[in-house]
Amino acid sequence: MESAGAGWPEPVVRVQSLSESGAATIPDRYVKPESERPAADPEASAAALTVEGGIPVVDLSSPSDPATARAVSEACRDWGFFQAVNHGVPAELLRRARGVWRGFFRQPMEVKQRYANSPATYEGYGSRLGVEKGAVLDWGDYYFLHVRPPHLFNPHKWPHLPPDLRETTEEYSREVAALCGRLMTAMSVGLGVGETRLQEAFGGADDAGVCVRVNYYPPCPQPELTLGLSSHSDPGGMTVLLADDRVRGLQVRRRGAWVTVDPVPDAFIVNVGDQIQVLTNATYRSVEHRVMVNAADERLSVALFYNPKSDLPLAPMPELVTPDRPALYNPMTFDEYRMYIRRKGPRGKSQVDSLKAAAAAAATVDVAENATS
Ligand code: OGA
Ligand code: NI
Repeated sequence: MESAGAGWPEPVVRVQSLSESGAATIPDRYVKPESERPAADPEASAAALTVEGGIPVVDLSSPSDPATARAVSEACRDWGFFQAVNHGVPAELLRRARGVWRGFFRQPMEVKQRYANSPATYEGYGSRLGVEKGAVLDWGDYYFLHVRPPHLFNPHKWPHLPPDLRETTEEYSREVAALCGRLMTAMSVGLGVGETRLQEAFGGADDAGVCVRVNYYPPCPQPELTLGLSSHSDPGGMTVLLADDRVRGLQVRRRGAWVTVDPVPDAFIVNVGDQIQVLTNATYRSVEHRVMVNAADERLSVALFYNPKSDLPLAPMPELVTPDRPALYNPMTFDEYRMYIRRKGPRGKSQVDSLKAAAAAAATVDVAENATS
């Protein structure tokens, strides 16, 4: 089953197979340029961590309390990331979700290969993001699924085993999507625009998109040369990440340094995606992050992406556009927007920044036209 086929530019290699081969070195394809390697500038990263103690922790036990909205809003403005505790999703469900997906990745390769994905939708078992021939690849495999809206739910793409994987993943997605709804309310209140405004600007809760990406990072013989996932910002609305309960690896960009996240047990890591940055006219920030790997342990994370209605052109909410702060982004639908990362792979914040450049250029033209008319 191993072939270039299905739309990939070259044969797909499973990182798990490379890891299990026991080779002492990694293939050149996975070696990052020096400036992107994990140990570049360790002093700046250590300093950032000691000064600030890591991403904020937000208690969601009283979600409609104004103090909760303030804490969420502050974290979204300042870091673009926070850890959510007392979030209302049972710890037992988190354990089951991790368990079924560890079970999936432990199956024999020929079973997993039945679900091999293609770049058309990315759904299924995958090992790269982006279709550029010769790209430097990341040290990780993944499984990607569309859960909502209903017309994108495709049962044929879901693994049949372990037996409770489907039911658990559906229950998990329902619960975490409901949490995203509560977070949308808190984020909206924190913007001062009324509690339903952000969700309305998203196209409404019923049309929101929900996707799950389970990341599997196998042990790596040369972790100092590569990354499990290269620096990127998440293209969608917001992301709720269930990090590995034993192994660290996620790093968040903070004032030019990389801060390693130390997950609180049973917490979620929440971050703002590019679409919320656009809707809030950059009041809330989608921040670059990446994943380090290590030589000893595998790491598994479950990311749930909560996305806007995909065919709705999104632009900054009018309430957040003023003469002092003109609209920073031109309208674009999420369907169009997400093609970029699907073609090019993870590339920092280059995409959302290019939207901004286009809006700035358009504004300059407007000014020039007004001046001459
Ligand atoms: C992602 C992501 C982080 C992690 O899937 O977009 O950033 O820790 N994952 O796996
Ligand atoms: Ni991400």
